[in-house]
Amino acid sequence: MDNDRRETGAQNRYSSAPFFSHGMFKPMPDSSARKILVTSALPYANGSLHLGHLLEMVQTDIWVRFQKSRGNDCLYVCADDAHGTAIMLTAEKLGISPEEQIARIKAEHERDAAGFHIGFDNYYSTHSEENRNWSEEIYRRLKANGHIASRAIVQAFDPEKELFLADRFIKGTCPRCKTPDQYGDNCEACGATYTPADLIDPVSAISGARPVQKESTHFFFTLPALADMLKAWIGSGTLQPQIANKLREWTDAGLQEWDISRDAPYFGFEIPGEPGKFFYVWLDAPIGYIASFQNYCQRSGRDFDSYWQADANAELYHFIGKDIINFHGLFWPAMLHSAGLRTPTAIYAHGFLTVNGTKMSKSRGTFIKAGTYLEHLDAEYLRYYFAAKLSAAVDDIDLNLEDFVQRVNADVVGKIVNIASRCAGFLRKGFDNTTAGNCAEPALLQAFLDEGEAIARAYEEREFSKAIRAIVALADRANQYIDDKKPWVLAKEGGREQEVHAVCSMGINLFRVLMTYLKPVLPAMADRSEAFLQCSLDWTALDGPLLAHQLAPFQPLLTRVDPGAVESMLDASAEQAKTGLA
Ligand code: MSP
Ligand code: ZN
Repeated sequence: MDNDRRETGAQNRYSSAPFFSHGMFKPMPDSSARKILVTSALPYANGSLHLGHLLEMVQTDIWVRFQKSRGNDCLYVCADDAHGTAIMLTAEKLGISPEEQIARIKAEHERDAAGFHIGFDNYYSTHSEENRNWSEEIYRRLKANGHIASRAIVQAFDPEKELFLADRFIKGTCPRCKTPDQYGDNCEACGATYTPADLIDPVSAISGARPVQKESTHFFFTLPALADMLKAWIGSGTLQPQIANKLREWTDAGLQEWDISRDAPYFGFEIPGEPGKFFYVWLDAPIGYIASFQNYCQRSGRDFDSYWQADANAELYHFIGKDIINFHGLFWPAMLHSAGLRTPTAIYAHGFLTVNGTKMSKSRGTFIKAGTYLEHLDAEYLRYYFAAKLSAAVDDIDLNLEDFVQRVNADVVGKIVNIASRCAGFLRKGFDNTTAGNCAEPALLQAFLDEGEAIARAYEEREFSKAIRAIVALADRANQYIDDKKPWVLAKEGGREQEVHAVCSMGINLFRVLMTYLKPVLPAMADRSEAFLQCSLDWTALDGPLLAHQLAPFQPLLTRVDPGAVESMLDASAEQAKTGLA
């Protein structure tokens, strides 16, 4: 519903202009509108969303909502990443089929994302026919281009479970400091790095059996053959400098062929013509972006080709975390290129979320699941806080819970909401809840409108903290204006009703501009504000002031953050960790 409304452009919802009112009119797409497809990384269908996932989804969603508000034709697709050994083992442990496991998790992910107002145009799964078709098709094209090699490799094998063991499924005693129970290829106690073969008394983390070495044929994507293409892509100037540097380090060190196959048993897609061999989860995961979009096209009648074919005219952006830059910055563009498809316009990587200065920790209760947060706190508090801290850099972001309470209460409730609430009462009591017929301070209103381009540029460049700073500075000016005029004093003086009306109407008009700028960050509060103001808060609808305009009764727009609710959320998270529910 929400999506449909934005899809057709919201400008006609409240407009009183005559040609908007008969319901048949659909605004013509603006010819300068950009066509943009946006994705965020596909969460594993192996566990709940936590606040780290939400940092990424909120960043992406704000950017997408901003584009839509500006009148651009912007779509946001995502999906669950449903394949791999871990998901297979989780389902086994729960005594359900992998299909059932991924269906349960997908429903939970969708519920939590909706709770945070993430406005996906499509949310799908990599375990889908569209994804199978595209994975097979892209594989065939790579193979036809000579970009698939095969050879036998030797790997650790669990003779009891009869499956090959990735490094993280092998544990043993650290060869250096002798700490037992160390996983994979590095020691948590002393930091030593090694190969699992160096572990003393290695065992399979799945069955406890001693792994044996076993040979098997694997398939490889010959990345070195695409080195020139990749160097050009890295140097094209569209990547964040931090990402381009990281990628250059990898290409300079020499690219390796990439193992894209896994042996049965594996939950995934079987490789065409290679019985018992499956695509590695990271082969079909990014293809899930294509599959989700194709599924959207089938539902909506959108044109697929202009987004994904080599001559596509749409922009394509992937929002990701810094841990998966190699997949999106090397393997993915190389695969797309070899398959004759378009490459991304840019990859936007963000840093990791820490809570109170450290990595999210189950024992401290700071490993906070999205669902747990929503049981205690309003989603928009966090959206605002993330926005206030996000920039275009790949730096980590800290959720300091004290600062969180203080900042949301001071800025959003104390400054933004305050403008509307202090003016609304006067308008309702004395002026039939209608704004004045002319604008008292056109220069002040113009100053607010003039800031719009700088704020828009900040959003566009993902400098959200800059946008928020500019908006809060305007809110300070609005509050200062009202403080200077003191309508509460004027109202008592008698004979000065017109001034009270002028000042409060001005306040409401300034609030309208601010909420338009904030709508990408605070969509639900913006909805309530639209209902109060009886006008659309899309950027494209921002023109002159609301004059002699009827308002609806004022409803509270956002309540203060209760520090007690933050405590309860931490307690609940710590409890989940103890009982193993996290
Ligand atoms: N399934 C892969 C992505 C495939 S994309 C074709 C994956 N899944 S994930 O669930 O582990 O992570 C999903 C996204 O969340 C990634 O971009 C990851 O960087 C991000 N984050 C996971 N934990 C995070 C934090 N603590 N902080 C910020 N982002 C984090 O990777
Ligand atoms: Zn060690």
